[in-house]
Formats: sequence, C-alpha cells, structure tokens
Amino acid sequence: MPDAITVSGVRRAFDDGTVALDGTTLSVERGSVAVLVGPSGCGKTTLLRILAGLDAPDAGTASVAPVAGEGAARVSIAFQEPRLLPWRSALRNVALPLELARAAKADRDDRARAMLSLVGLGGAERKLPGQLSGGMRMRVAIARALVTRPQVLLLDEPFGALDEITRHQLDDLVLRLRAELGMTVVLVTHAITEAAYMGDRVFVMAPSPGRVVRAFEPGFGMRDAALRASPRFAAVVADLMQSLAGAMLAVPAGGVRA
Ligand SMILES: Nc1ncnc2c1ncn2[C@@H]1O[C@H](COP(=O)(O)OP(=O)(O)OP(=O)(O)O)[C@@H](O)[C@H]1O
Ligand SMILES: [Mg+2]
Repeated sequence: MPDAITVSGVRRAFDDGTVALDGTTLSVERGSVAVLVGPSGCGKTTLLRILAGLDAPDAGTASVAPVAGEGAARVSIAFQEPRLLPWRSALRNVALPLELARAAKADRDDRARAMLSLVGLGGAERKLPGQLSGGMRMRVAIARALVTRPQVLLLDEPFGALDEITRHQLDDLVLRLRAELGMTVVLVTHAITEAAYMGDRVFVMAPSPGRVVRAFEPGFGMRDAALRASPRFAAVVADLMQSLAGAMLAVPAGGVRA
C-alpha cells in the first residue's frame, strides 16, 4: 500500500520559543492505524493539528495524499472531549459538517442517520448530548468526524476520559470502521495497552524538541479479546513500556548527557 501520510523533517516553534517539534519524520501506510505515544508536551497534538491543516510547519513537510480520483484529501479530527453542541440532537450534531459543506438537506440527514447507526447509535438520533452517556457522546463525535467520509481520521486521546471496558469497545469500533470505510487512522494515546492493541505501527516520541525516537510494529492482524489476554500481547506492551521509559529520559536532540 502507498503511504497516506508523509511527514519529513517537520519543525514547529511557537512565538514564545517553545520548539514543539523538530526533525519529526514518519510515514503512515494507507488503510493502516498509526499510533503516537510519548510524554506530555512531546508535540503529539501539534503534529495532529498540522496534519489536519489547522497549523503549519515552520520547516519540513507534512502531507496527506489524496486517494486517486479525489480532488483533495479529506481529513477529520476528533478530540478528547466530544465537543458536541448541547442544544442540538445527536442527529443534528452529526449532520453539522454536512450543513457547513452545504450538502443537500435530505441527503445530509440520510448520511447522518446512517453514520449514527454505524457507530451503534441507531435510535438515539433525537437525544440531546446531555441525555447520553460519556461513551455514547464519544460515538456521536466519531460519527460526526466520519460523516464527511474522510480518508484520514485523526484521534487525539479520544477515549482517555472513559472507563476501560468502554474504551475497549470504542477501540474495536474504530478498527471495524477503519476496515469498513477503508480509512487511514492516526491515534494519539497515553495508554500503552491501547497503543499496542491499535497500532499497525506505533511511533514513540520524545520531548524537547518533540520528535520520533522509535517506530514499532506490533504485528497483530486480527484484534480481539483473546489477543488482549495473550502472552504475545503482554510482550509487546512490555517492550513499548521500555521504549516509552527511554523516551522520557531521552537526551534533547543535539544535547549532551551530563
Ligand atoms: N499555541 C502554542 N503556543 C506556545 N506553545 C505551545 C502552543 N501549543 C503547544 N505548545 C507547546 O508545544 C509543546 C507541544 O505541545 P503539544 O500540545 O503538541 O503536546 P502533546 O504531546 O500533545 O502533550 P499532551 O500529551 O499533554 O497532550 C508543549 O511544550 C506545549 O506547551
Ligand atoms: Mg495533546
């Protein structure tokens, strides 16, 4: 598969002198799940924002390749909080990106309804966000991100606020949607077990400045509950844990060990 995302030598420094990213390089194969892990402040959100076109690098390049026949690549992003409009029903929240894109009214309701049912919320169309559980609200946020049929879905710690069982269910949902919709997914997480489970490739990042220090391929094809309980899964988690501990202690690029 060709790469859907190519990031090469990206630097992003903010006005106050913070170098969020420098020399950040990675690629993500089309249709795969890439996971970004690393300590707080290593530039994960900054990188997702660049990929979403919400920010731009000061040096280097970050590109999302369009699928053949499509004009521009479609990228959607979802954050840790669902960020739903509380006065709009689940259906109206999901339809919002289509309204903003001025899609035909009948069409956008059909598409929003289909997407809600795909995330397991058929029947909850008329509920307000305040009437839904945290996990259901996150499903609505994912349906909203997917309703424009993105080629790339960016998820910034999407399930960090949820209990572990709900998180497992939503992780499996993302894997299923990835297969059904043929998307590329980039997931940021603090949870090492989630990184090991989800990532076709896991990029370990280190801070000051933010950069990729290790790329890791867990090599799991099918994911299910049995995998989570298996020794080979435990081995990957242990290995990732060690990489992450190393990343936390990483010497700043160009720095000298004391
Ligand atoms: N708009 C901004 N202005 C100045 N500094 C910023 C800005 N946005 C981010 N930073 C800084 O850039 C660095 C990387 O931030 P970023 O949010 O990308 O980290 P992160 O890896 O997502 O962290 P976390 O895991 O805590 O979410 C941090 O030092 C942060 O303080
Ligand atoms: Mg972040």
